[in-house]
Amino acid sequence: MRLDIISIFPEYFTPLDVSLIGKARERGTLDVRVHQLRDWTHDVHKTVDDTPYGGGPGMVMKPEVWGEAIDAVIGDGTPRMIVPTPSGRPFTQELAQELAEEPWLLFACGRYEGIDARVMAEYATRLRVDEVSIGDYVLAGGEVAVLVMVEAIGRLLPGVLGNAQSAVDDSFAPGSMRNLVEGPVYTKPPVWRGHEVPAVLMSGHHGKVARWRRDEALRRTVQNRPELAAALDPGTLDKHDRKLLEELSFRVEPEDMAN
Ligand code: ADE
Repeated sequence: MRLDIISIFPEYFTPLDVSLIGKARERGTLDVRVHQLRDWTHDVHKTVDDTPYGGGPGMVMKPEVWGEAIDAVIGDGTPRMIVPTPSGRPFTQELAQELAEEPWLLFACGRYEGIDARVMAEYATRLRVDEVSIGDYVLAGGEVAVLVMVEAIGRLLPGVLGNAQSAVDDSFAPGSMRNLVEGPVYTKPPVWRGHEVPAVLMSGHHGKVARWRRDEALRRTVQNRPELAAALDPGTLDKHDRKLLEELSFRVEPEDMAN
């Protein structure tokens, strides 16, 4: 997969040299190219922004410099273009999976109040353009959001994770535990500072371990993500799930109402 990132702070992307993503780059699974937007300015100050039409605080990134930069980076190619912005569509595991199937992504990092909207309009005539938000909070620019997205996408590429099952078991990944967050995990030693590992995990009984993991996932989802628990499809809940949710005083639709 090829990834191009255009930003006025290329230094932000040094984390992409290390760990899973760094190794994927060394192996050639990922071809990451970071570009300095200011390389496409023509004035001595390398200006990338100007005051907003209509007034208001802050500055807006100029369309000409973005146009020249994107044209130079993509040539005749047609990457999918992602513009990180708090006003974009939410970045989810589902979108990460969709983007992991693309051969080429272009990330355009805005700063200040954002990029002149005509840039997105112009490239939307030729490319698939998505404005994407990583959460309901405002960062100082798109760079950290791109790091988040690249890590989430990169680890889904074939051969990037050591153990292919780890992506399958992720919270939010499709499957039987879909829409539940993952429960707690343990390793050796069996007792640490008086805290014991739950006995069932050392029982070797796969069925009981799976049931315990599902219980813990349900518990954590109710505790930490009540909105996810409320959105669970009642048709996916068995008798045991229902009993546990009742113990947690969490209301579910009666079984005969399910589907
Ligand atoms: N830029 C600033 N805040 C952002 C957010 N929450 N998501 C994506 N890009 C951003």
